[in-house]
Amino acid sequence: MRTQVCIIGGGPSGLLLSQLLDRAGIETVVLERRSRDYVLSRIRAGVLEFGTVGMLEKAGVADRAHAQGLPHTGTYLAVQNAGFRIDFDDLIGKRVLVYGQTEVTRDLYDAREKAGGIVIHDLDDVELHDLDSGAPYVTYRKDGTEHRIDCDWIAGCDGFHGPSRKAIPRDVLTEYERVYPFGWLGVMADLPPVDHELIYANHPRGFALASMRSPTRSRYYIQAPVDDPLKKWTDDAFWDELRRRLPHDAAERLITGPTIEKSIAPLRSFVADPMKWGRLFLVGDAAHIVPPTGAKGLNLAVSDVHYLFEALKSHYHDADDHAIDTYSATALKRVWNAIRFSWWFTTTMHRFPDQDPFDQAIQDSELRQLQSSRAAQTNFAENYVGLPY
Ligand code: APR
Ligand code: PHB
Repeated sequence: MRTQVCIIGGGPSGLLLSQLLDRAGIETVVLERRSRDYVLSRIRAGVLEFGTVGMLEKAGVADRAHAQGLPHTGTYLAVQNAGFRIDFDDLIGKRVLVYGQTEVTRDLYDAREKAGGIVIHDLDDVELHDLDSGAPYVTYRKDGTEHRIDCDWIAGCDGFHGPSRKAIPRDVLTEYERVYPFGWLGVMADLPPVDHELIYANHPRGFALASMRSPTRSRYYIQAPVDDPLKKWTDDAFWDELRRRLPHDAAERLITGPTIEKSIAPLRSFVADPMKWGRLFLVGDAAHIVPPTGAKGLNLAVSDVHYLFEALKSHYHDADDHAIDTYSATALKRVWNAIRFSWWFTTTMHRFPDQDPFDQAIQDSELRQLQSSRAAQTNFAENYVGLPY
């Protein structure tokens, strides 16, 4: 088989890139290791930057997000039992859309199917070949048979554990990493959310977040040891701890009940540089990971897709390779802005096991400045709602 762009990974990055390139008349094939149902069973974050919504509109897949998503014009930061709201609309005239990543991925799968896009599932042993030649190719095995796809370019949209980043020679790649000494214990429940907006809580017992997927489906997280056995966290134990960490008025409103999903996720910051080598581009989680505090994971993947889509369009439509040659440097500028914001928000809102009184005093000062300074809140809003592409 031959195509113009071979996309490894059928998550949000790969599907969005495929949809955009297809609408620009550029051929793609998506190789997804798992089944569509498996991919859609993954639970991820749910805050879309305004730029992400714009990209979904450009891809023709924003209808359901606009119909079912929840526009949020601000968010609440709680510090023990006090707190303050950051008003995005008032500060920067922009908002975010609360709409689950799973639903974004579902909309993209439906759009690819409707367009007759080629998405090949349930495959193994994906390997990338001749990346430093003008004729790269990808091989994979499906149903016991080896297949080969010749292409012009390869988009590594295969997430943190995929083969693409590992195909870049070790002496070319620089990896930056920060692993946080805690995890997020998250639950999903078909219960009304505790508030109409998100509540990020900094508490001596640890961080908590009250989020949602819809007016009838809540999503909550509490900071917990990443190696905690899940069986320790019964529903009652979770609700009791969440109540302790939320502001009293929210804790009193909290509606509890059976959870439909519960998991603990580790937190890390990670960046791979460069995001291009030869005919291979790295996109999304294949190139970078952020702690979920700033809800940047999907949004950063989408801005990578924006840069790569524009670069490939210039190549094929205008025979101009400047954007292709500068893709890595361009994408990494925005990546590091999101890495910084997510790191800052994580260090400001969580309790670190080894923190000393100086650390706590600095955290308290950060939060006081954020509460009292319009300039500090404007900077927060610009980062949270999404910096320009
Ligand atoms: N061959 C083919 N597909 C693969 C391989 C492989 N060897 N390895 C991984 N994949 C697939 C995974 O099954 C997954 O569906 O690549 C896809 C990568 O998708 P994501 O991990 O969702 O990464 P990305 O598309 O960049 O989206 C980033 O997703 O995981 C969240 O927090 C992350 O919100 C962020 C967003
Ligand atoms: C979520 O709803 O899953 C969510 C929202 C905001 C975050 C992280 C996760 O910062």
